Amino acid sequence: MSKLDEVLNLAKIKGYFWPAYDVYGGSSGFYVLGPYGVILTNGITSLWRQLFVRPMGFLEIDAPSVTPYKVLKSSGHVDNFKDPMAECSNCHNKYRADNLLSEAGKEISESASPEAMQLALNDDHIRCPNCGFTNWVVKPFMTMFSTNIGPYENSEGFLRPETAQGIFVEFQRLLSLNRGKLPMGVSQAGRGFRNEISPRQSIIRLREFHMLEVELFIDPAAKVSVIRPSEKRLPILHEAILSAGRAEPDHLTLVEALDKGIVKNEWLGMFMQLSLELLCNLGVPVERQRFREKLKGERAHYSAQTFDHEVFIEEVGWLEVAGHAYRTDYDLKSHMKGSGQDMTVSVDLESPISVPKKKVNFRIDALKLRYPESWQGILAGGYRLDENGVLFNGTPIDRDVYTINETVEVVKVRKIIPHVVEPSFGLERLMLACMYFAYQKKDDRIVLSVPGGVIKRVAAVFPLLSKPELTLRAQEVRERLLKAGIDVIYDDSGSIGRRYARVDEAGVPIAITIDHQSLEDGTVTVRNRDTWEQVRKPEDQLVSFMESLSLY
Ligand code: GLY
Repeated sequence: MSKLDEVLNLAKIKGYFWPAYDVYGGSSGFYVLGPYGVILTNGITSLWRQLFVRPMGFLEIDAPSVTPYKVLKSSGHVDNFKDPMAECSNCHNKYRADNLLSEAGKEISESASPEAMQLALNDDHIRCPNCGFTNWVVKPFMTMFSTNIGPYENSEGFLRPETAQGIFVEFQRLLSLNRGKLPMGVSQAGRGFRNEISPRQSIIRLREFHMLEVELFIDPAAKVSVIRPSEKRLPILHEAILSAGRAEPDHLTLVEALDKGIVKNEWLGMFMQLSLELLCNLGVPVERQRFREKLKGERAHYSAQTFDHEVFIEEVGWLEVAGHAYRTDYDLKSHMKGSGQDMTVSVDLESPISVPKKKVNFRIDALKLRYPESWQGILAGGYRLDENGVLFNGTPIDRDVYTINETVEVVKVRKIIPHVVEPSFGLERLMLACMYFAYQKKDDRIVLSVPGGVIKRVAAVFPLLSKPELTLRAQEVRERLLKAGIDVIYDDSGSIGRRYARVDEAGVPIAITIDHQSLEDGTVTVRNRDTWEQVRKPEDQLVSFMESLSLY
């Protein structure tokens, strides 16, 4: 069994995640997060909040998953959110055309047209994995789940393909909550939905999954200094490397990447740096990480520059866990156009500027006399002022029917449509990467050494034996921890060795055992998941002791 298979097997047995709807034969692309999966994903989400949301005072919202048609039409998803679908002309099974080609060792760009993919499949006689036939028809397939909102016709909606749109459409309200100030970061942790053509690879490709997204609204002309300069080098496989056909990334500090113009936006670079930190905190070695630039044609329709944050997993290859995109003003502009609502922001100018203004004052009586047919149209604003004077329908108007007043206006603000920079994570993939690198074998036993700070405030509590005096005391310890906000896994069945093994496999950082000495002196043993060392501690110092552990 490969390491990945062992991890997936552990995930299923220990209750991290498993395929949903098994009793009805399953449904591809849907997984259940089990009790330990919930603990781990909650831990990852709170680390993400710690790094990406709280320090910069970003807002967090929770918008609906069902999205009206108009929103996703304006955003460009209705027209662009499509994958190339290859249908076998014989058995009518359907696959992603680019997957069929890459699995057959044929290189084709993600941006190739359906026609080009069809030609490539048929020219290369690629066999149908189901029936072996070699004739394909390739068409674009829209990968959003559609639904109907309420009982009326013409009220189509979709399950959101990204949480981002729920943020963009609330922009004005959020901006006023942020007192009109840019930059404004808005985050959202929620479900995303993609009707994948043929999802495989366990939780790597799901039809319903969890996303952790931040949409940062910025004034593109505002000066930004790198907020968290770090000497930690970012492994970047950028466009120039890819175009040269090389596979080794450049290792650049953020400042170097920005100075060389490799990363086109300061915030984008800062998010990449934080992303590296997040993955390191999840236990992914830095040499197993890289940022791969998406080439033109591979990028989403809204993006001017995207770097996928990828993790190398032996059995999978480079796996995308996050996309960091510079979305420019694409989103707000599209929703402004689609909704007719103003999404501009007035930003203060560093120093006010004086703008010369010319105002035309008509002599009404003279105007009426000279232009009896058109004076009303002129007064209604149908004229233009240029260096030659006032023009109406392109013809100069007599000088003696008007005067020009020259003034100076002091302008303090300018109107902009903010640009958006977005770090977007797939939570299930983060969990898988974390579990893969946490998976250890010690004396032929499995230990899931999830790094400290990920699984927080969770402990196992065991009575040494299932005797009433010990179980009663263990329940009291359990209550004490629960009151302090620590989740407890209580177990009183099987030998103590087996119980330790169970929580080691589940990644629980510490196990507390209540024995006969506990009844005499009020102390308990605290066992470390990774070192298996045990220390005795008084019950009333448990919480502070646990909080002092690096495992927490
Ligand atoms: N919001 C980024 C994505 O959907 O991939």
